[in-house]
Amino acid sequence: MDLEFRKLSPDLGAEVLGADLAHPLDDRSFGAIHGTFLSHGILLFREQHAMGPAEQTAFSRRLGRLAETIPNERMHDHYPILVLSNIVRDGKPVGSGRGGQFWHSDLFYNAIPAAASFLHALVVPEEDGRSLGDTKFANMAAAHDALPEAMKKKLEGLKNRVSRVKSWPINYPFRPPLTDEEKAAYGSVVHPLVRTHPETGRKSLYIGDISAGTVVGMPAGEGDALLSELRDFATQPRFTYVHRWSVGDAILWDNRSTLHAATDFDAEEHERLMHRTTIMDDTVPT
Ligand code: SIN
Repeated sequence: MDLEFRKLSPDLGAEVLGADLAHPLDDRSFGAIHGTFLSHGILLFREQHAMGPAEQTAFSRRLGRLAETIPNERMHDHYPILVLSNIVRDGKPVGSGRGGQFWHSDLFYNAIPAAASFLHALVVPEEDGRSLGDTKFANMAAAHDALPEAMKKKLEGLKNRVSRVKSWPINYPFRPPLTDEEKAAYGSVVHPLVRTHPETGRKSLYIGDISAGTVVGMPAGEGDALLSELRDFATQPRFTYVHRWSVGDAILWDNRSTLHAATDFDAEEHERLMHRTTIMDDTVPT
């Protein structure tokens, strides 16, 4: 397969030209895609209309073990695919609702969070010829590199206690509250605020979803202010890429070195349907 790679923005992302993910990739093409994924943080594949759930799953499995289920989220009936959609058919929601409309990395609340996610656009809302429901991405490695030295020093060794129980009512006020059993099952986990990428060795800010976090050993107000300051710094336009979806687009992102956020659209008026595979890491973040 003859592949070409084109930058999506000065500091984040590449578009892959010439890849048809409806067919297995030869090892050389897969190696080039994997290498560019690691160096660019996100990869865009356009026009993947022929890639169905089976092919999406097969491509994703080459990157690692997949999350077969995700608690409190709706999976595809036959494949390890998270269905993100506001569509209701015969009174039944086809998916989990819309993607997280807040900066986050996937499964950040797990002891071993997701390494990567691969999102395929099947139905994209549109108004007056412009698609709605963009996804924003931020480069947390570039953001870490650009931090003032004093902040890098301050972050050395700092840890974040992360709890989905804390973030749930903030992120999902429109979903039913977690039951006591669900709360007990989530518990909380501790991640470093700066992590070293297990494959590239590059350091990244690792703040995930800040509403889930509590900086260990800091008064709550001070810790929350620090997390907000880091999120605001890292999501400045110079570190971000905003994707305007077309049907058939698929984006692979690295949860270890990027954040992402879905954006709002009028869900009463428009339908959106996305399929996401979630590729797991093997080791805890360090
Ligand atoms: C996600 O948060 O994983 C999905 C983002 C989106 O639906 O735009």
